[in-house]
Parts: sequence; C-alpha cells; structure tokens
Amino acid sequence: MYRTHTCGELRGEHKGQRTTLAGWVARVRDLGGLIFITVRDRYGRTQVVFDPADNAELAAKAKELRSEWVVRFEGEVRSRPDDMINRNMPTGEIEVAADTLEVLASCETPPLQPEDEFEPSEEHRLRWRFLDLRRDVMQASLIKRHELLQYTRQFFSGEKFLEIETPFLTRSTPEGARDFIVPSRIHPGNWYALPQSPQTYKQILMISGYDRYFQIVRCFRDEDFRANRQPEFTQIDVEMAFPHRQDIMDVVERYMRGLFEEIMHVDFPAEVPELSYADAIRRFGSDKPDLRIPYELVDLSDLLKGHGFAVIDKTVEDGGFAVGLRVPGFKSASRKQVSLWEEFVKERGLGGLMPMRTGEEGSWTGPLGKFVAPEALAKASDALDLNLEDDLAFVAVGKAPRVFQVMGMLRLALGREFGWIDPNRHELLWVTQFPLVDYNEEEKRYEPLHHPFTAPELDSWNEWVDKDPAKIASQAYDLVWNGEEVAGGSIRIHDREMQARLFEIIGLDAETARKRFSFLLEALQYGAPPHGGIAFGFDRLVMQITGKDSIRDVIAFPKTTAAVALFEGAPGEVDSGQLDDLRLRISK
Ligand code: AMO
Repeated sequence: MYRTHTCGELRGEHKGQRTTLAGWVARVRDLGGLIFITVRDRYGRTQVVFDPADNAELAAKAKELRSEWVVRFEGEVRSRPDDMINRNMPTGEIEVAADTLEVLASCETPPLQPEDEFEPSEEHRLRWRFLDLRRDVMQASLIKRHELLQYTRQFFSGEKFLEIETPFLTRSTPEGARDFIVPSRIHPGNWYALPQSPQTYKQILMISGYDRYFQIVRCFRDEDFRANRQPEFTQIDVEMAFPHRQDIMDVVERYMRGLFEEIMHVDFPAEVPELSYADAIRRFGSDKPDLRIPYELVDLSDLLKGHGFAVIDKTVEDGGFAVGLRVPGFKSASRKQVSLWEEFVKERGLGGLMPMRTGEEGSWTGPLGKFVAPEALAKASDALDLNLEDDLAFVAVGKAPRVFQVMGMLRLALGREFGWIDPNRHELLWVTQFPLVDYNEEEKRYEPLHHPFTAPELDSWNEWVDKDPAKIASQAYDLVWNGEEVAGGSIRIHDREMQARLFEIIGLDAETARKRFSFLLEALQYGAPPHGGIAFGFDRLVMQITGKDSIRDVIAFPKTTAAVALFEGAPGEVDSGQLDDLRLRISK
C-alpha cells in the first residue's frame, strides 16, 4: 500500500499506530537538531519528525528535502507535547516520528510556490496552472464545485428528471453569441457548430415525450469575455413538459433551498421576490439588480421639471427622466470628489451629475438650488429619504433606459466604494415580464431579448403583434443572486405558426428559418406539448457559493479574457496536412 492514511486524517486517537503517508513537501524546518517536514495532500497537512539521535543518516536525508518533492514516510503516530499542539491544524495534536523516507519524485524549484502566502499574478497562475491548482484556495473551490455537481444530479434525479446527453457537433443554436465552428472533413465546405446551449434539443426531447430532462452540459459561445464569462462554460440545463411558469420556478426554488442549506449551510430566504423587467430598470437601472445595496434610484422628473431649469425641462419634455440616488454620509464631499463620480457617468454617456444638498443655512446649493423651488427639492429629498444633515443625492438627466442604466452602474460603484454591500447577505430575486423582442437601432430589426423560442404572454401577443412587437411581453424569467444572473429560462412557443411568425418578426425569412430550424419547425407539427425550462450558469453558482469574483477561480482549466489557454497553449496552429484534409486554406 502506498499510504495507509491521508495527510489530513491522523488525530490524537491514532497515537501509537504505524502509518504510511505520501504527499508533497510543504515545508522543511531544521530546529536545533530535529528535522520537521510538513507533508501535504488534498486532505490536509501532517508534521513528520526526524530525530538524528535515532537515525542520523535518515535525518540528514530529510534535511535535503525541498518544497514540492513527492515523498513517502513510514513511522509512528505520537502526541505532540502540550506546548507544541497546533489548534489551527486539524492534525495539529499529533506528529509522525518517521523511520523511513522515500523520495518518489524530486523537482526543480517550482516557478509558482503553492505554499506562498501572497497571490501571484493571474497570468502566472494560469501559465503554471498545475501548480496553482495545488494551492489550498483552488482545491477548496474545486471540492465545492464537485459537491455542487453531486447535489445537482441527486436533486434533479430525485425529482424524476432524466439526465440525457445531447450532441456537441451540431447545427447552430442561437443564444445571441457567435458560434464556434468545426469543419467537416467528410463533407468539405460544411461545418458543425458547437452548441451555445442544448436549447433546441431539449425542446425536441419534450416533443419526444421525456417530460422532465436535465443535463450538466458544456456550452460554447464566442463572445467578449468578462470576469463572469468563459468561451466554454457549464450549464445545468432543465426542461419540463406541461408546466406552468410557477412549476418551473418552484423546482428552481427547491433546488436553491437545498444548495443554500446543504452546500452553503445558510438559511434560504423566506421568499424569493419577483420584479418586472420594467421595475428592475426603473428602480435599479439593471435587469440583474443587487438587492444587498439598500438605496434605489428615484424618478424625480415630475418634481424637478417646470422650474425653469432648462437641462431638466428640455429632457423631460423630450420624454427623458431626472433620476436621483441617495448617497448617505457624503454631504461634505468636495467638488473634486463629486467630479470624480461625474466623470464616471460621463464616461458612460450621461451629460453630468448634479449633487443635491443643502448648504450651511439650510438652503439648497448648486444649480438645482438655484433653479428649482425649495418645496420641490424638499419633496424630492423626502422621496429619496435623505437625511439633510449627512447625505447628498446625485441627480442625472437623460433618455431611458440609458439614464437609469448609468445611474444603476453608479449605484453599484458607490456601493462597492462605500461598503454598502454586506458580503454575508444573500439576496435572490426573479426578474420577469421581459419584452419578447427589442428593436436594434443599428441593424434596423427586432431581436429576441432571450432567444427566439421564448413564448409571449398570449394577450399581449394578440394585442401588439401587428402593431408594435417591442411591446409584446414574454414568458421569460431570470433568477438573480446578489446582482449576478445565475439562471434564465422561459415557457416556449409550442405552436408552429406562432414560431414561424416570430422568426418573421426578427427578420428571418421563411427560407432561412426553414434551413436553420427545419428540424424544430417539423417537430412542432407532430404533437408538441406545452413546455418550458431554464438553465443555470453552473460556474456562476460555484462563484457565488465560494465568494469568488472571477469565474476562472472555479474552473480547473479556464481561458484568459483573451480566450487563450495559457498553460496548454490553445488555440494553436495545425499542420498543413490537417488543413489539406479539410480542404481549408488560411487567407493572409
Ligand atoms: P442563457 O443564455 O441565459 O439561457 O444562459 C443561461 C445561464 O448561463 C450562464 N451563462 C454563462 N456563464 C458563463 N460564461 C458565459 N459565457 C455564459 N453565458 C451564459 C448565465 C445564464 O443565466 N437556452 C437558454 C436557457 C433556457 O431558456 O432554458 C440559455 O442558454 O448564468
């Protein structure tokens, strides 16, 4: 046997037992004769002692060990003297008095030291990922990820969902990003697309009668990357036949309750509130609001207009808004501090930022004070819940939704800067009643807000489909956790005519729609049950559980923000022979 115990296993009760341990050398200390080696594996660390008085040759060999060598020891477990017990270490009551030492692998000084206290740069960590993955924090993340995977399978399987795999070499599925494509050797000039999600397959499985499906599945999207996105990421993909919207939301809430209670060991909120898309934008400037921040945007247009302040009057006349945000404790902010935040909104497309606050004699200051009647400002201040002694409010004007969105970004940035966010709080909410489609001014066409298979609210479809498609409400829902969209889904269209009409609205002519989605349109003709579902961003769930800010910290081998795998070196060139097989040529 290579080892009888792991490095995290031995306790006081093992005293007197023989043990064999194997692992990596974390630390070598030479303390006045005694040699202490800390040996590490993914379960923990154990202290191993060599006493030259017992075996001088062995102790001399132990002294030569270096960080990250792979070693094996045999010896006896013994209690540490009382004053040497380490309460911070699960194995801190004992040590192993070794009588053998075998070096399984020596190594050069590693370019990244897993035991270092400080965190190396991310580029260095990704370049030397196999060493980075030895660090405790990374091991803890991946262990949590594993626990969540196991819980997920158990949960959905327990609720009678069938785990069914769908192909990776497939046709394009539209989720709003670019496809990664794979050339076909057997059919030169033809391409597979890697799925952006298994959306169409899971709908077809409903039509085939597998009324509850789930899959923990890799999805591929060629898009611009951010801290919470990867070109390949994992979804928990779920679909149900014969569901009301509430049935799906209930399954999701049961899943989340288990995740909170069993994986995170925290209480699940008594209620997961629901907010319409329109309200989310108006109150938080975002369709994924962070409800941990206690301050909301307030529409002050009606109070501030009509006092002869041209910027406000003109904006509101043109259909725009004046939006305020309380900034507690910031009343004495200097002109310079205010201008920093003004720069923030200007960079994001607003004209400026007006501080609303009273001066020494209690009268309103600044341009707002100059133009707007004090009674109106007093009402605005009430609406914002300002404490005039300490607070100011920032007010900005502009068109919707931009002014709300930028003020929403300001709310988040101020929240981070001023510590308004309690990291121990967990705020979940549903965002619903999204518009079905959105008008893309640049491309002069309607685009689905979610994806083109999302069903409309029937009444609003009937009312607006011929008049103003942008007003059609959809049956989509997103689950938001602390300002991060962790899941999104919808009730689907299960009527072929409606699906064909929607393709038309988003500018897919019948021929293109037939070419791209004939399999789905065909299946919809042959007995499609009402169905709907959702997909969780699995990596984002793990981020939330582990409190990480970067998705790369919860994925074993992620890509950089430039979509590069630094350690294995992808993407890379291929042999010209491979290109010849595929009948491809690179144009310079
Ligand atoms: P959607 O596109 O909203 O819906 O994706 C579902 C969830 O997946 C996560 N996600 C990502 N995570 C990491 N990196 C990315 N690039 C990335 N893109 C998305 C998000 C998101 O909420 N087929 C539909 C689901 C459905 O309608 O059932 C879909 O894919 O957390």
